[in-house]
Amino acid sequence: MYILGIHNSHDASVCLIKDGKIVYYIQEERLNGIKHFGPALPMHALDLCFETQKISQRDLDIIVIPGLHQIKDIKLLFHAQSSEKIDISSNETKFSDKLRAMAVNAAGYFSYLNITDQMDFPVYRPTYPIKSKTRLLQVNHHLSHAASTYYTSGFDECLVVTADGSGDGLSVTAWVGKAGELKPVIKIGRNGSLGFFYNIVTEALGWQISEGEGKTMGLAPYGTTNKTKGVLDFITPVYSDGRLVKPQFFGIFKSWKTDGTFHWHTPQSSKVKKLIDKYGRENIAAEAQRVLEEQMLNFVLPWIKRSGIKKVAAAGGVFLNVKMNQRIWESGLLDDFYIFPDAGDAGLTVGSGLFTNYSVLKNRYIPRRIKNTYWGKEYSDEEIEKILRLRKIKFTKYADKSKLIKDTAMFLAKGKIVAWFQGRMEAGPRALGNRSILMDPRKAENKDIINSRVKFREGFRPFCPSMTPEAAKKYLINPTSADFMIISFDVPKQLVQDIPAVVHVDRTARPQVVTKEANPLYFQLIDEFGKLTGVPVLLNTSFNIKGQPIIEDPQTAIKCFFDTGLDYLAFGNFLLKK
Ligand SMILES: [Fe+2]
Repeated sequence: MYILGIHNSHDASVCLIKDGKIVYYIQEERLNGIKHFGPALPMHALDLCFETQKISQRDLDIIVIPGLHQIKDIKLLFHAQSSEKIDISSNETKFSDKLRAMAVNAAGYFSYLNITDQMDFPVYRPTYPIKSKTRLLQVNHHLSHAASTYYTSGFDECLVVTADGSGDGLSVTAWVGKAGELKPVIKIGRNGSLGFFYNIVTEALGWQISEGEGKTMGLAPYGTTNKTKGVLDFITPVYSDGRLVKPQFFGIFKSWKTDGTFHWHTPQSSKVKKLIDKYGRENIAAEAQRVLEEQMLNFVLPWIKRSGIKKVAAAGGVFLNVKMNQRIWESGLLDDFYIFPDAGDAGLTVGSGLFTNYSVLKNRYIPRRIKNTYWGKEYSDEEIEKILRLRKIKFTKYADKSKLIKDTAMFLAKGKIVAWFQGRMEAGPRALGNRSILMDPRKAENKDIINSRVKFREGFRPFCPSMTPEAAKKYLINPTSADFMIISFDVPKQLVQDIPAVVHVDRTARPQVVTKEANPLYFQLIDEFGKLTGVPVLLNTSFNIKGQPIIEDPQTAIKCFFDTGLDYLAFGNFLLKK
């Protein structure tokens, strides 16, 4: 049984679920090199899906699209006539909410027409005609977010929370997931959007919406809210006791095409820009972060208390804010907290696919936490060697990985910058040890060295650690599960000096705790580095340069290696050295 998830809005992606298991998932940006690519069809991701999984569209039982928007392009691609729509309904839905959602969806429809609905396929682009019995489904955006986190959380019963800019007219929702079923608790329209609030500030700070929010978060601890407390009230949706008590009218965001894709923007950012000029960038970022944390806590915590459910699963782009996640965890009300690692809209294909498997097809749900997100393509040693030989590049070939690991750990201990390209590509916005650039975290100056030689990104942004579970016990205060760099924790004051390159200015770290089970090779490398240095922790940043997606293929890896100040590239069983 094959279910294909395909997302044709921004952060376009493809996911394939075979007999209930995620067997392939990738964002289009990894393949076409355009970060956050969309709204458009993820053609490379789809082609690669069929190629690597050795199937064709004729094998598909269900195609599912997250979102209830127009999908004329998808229908044309698969020669499908109509789709079945699965929306959320609950007794709490007010008629006014429904009307508002309809109005926003209509506005979105017309703006979407300009982008994709006029399209047709050129003769040279093959389409994929499906069998007449293949079903085409559309699943509500927030229901897809909720499903992405519930069905990968390993929880049987939990409170599920989603928050983003907006999708299908909603921005914040809560659910109860129990025995494989998701039941809505509350849903808030786009006038309660905490994502939009943070987007506006991010644009005002000079960064693209849906791209620069991590920079706003990274900048915030450098400022204070002494003079800025309350200055963003005019764009803040206010929550109290789990409900929206002061809505905001955000209007329709506009799109701007640059760098090969569309980016949203809003006129309200110019008002915030004036505040930035008056109070300073750091202080406005600090206020935005304070407000986000406060309002999210006002929403989430009352529902935990009311439901009595102390396990929480979360998704939606707002949950990429690791500091906000830390605050939720630190409330002390939760027994366990899981955030789907690809919490943004790319991950919707996973959610809509799993929802189809468990809720539409009624397959039995056995709670199991995902251990990793290595769902992309793997390149064999034969493929890599061929590419290297074609380019007449000198390399060392290792007979097995253990010597490569020992050598790489030694280079890292000597302060070298190593690119680590192994196995299947990781999904989600963070490099998780298969397409990573690594360095020794023990010296504070390594942060500046890696920035000036390789990453070329803003100096205030923190780098993150990968660490063994043993190191996590030592370096993280009161952690919950932290496999995916999606939640931060405080680091004990006296231990910051051990790993200064991966501790942020506010003494927090956003870790990937690597187990042998999740990634045996990467675990061995960190462990080996620990044996040499006494610190089983590595600085891990994504294998790319600023503004580009994480590298997927060997050709781009080689180009990045030679274009930057990387010292080594450990590449399957091969090692390149400068
Ligand atoms: Fe979303």
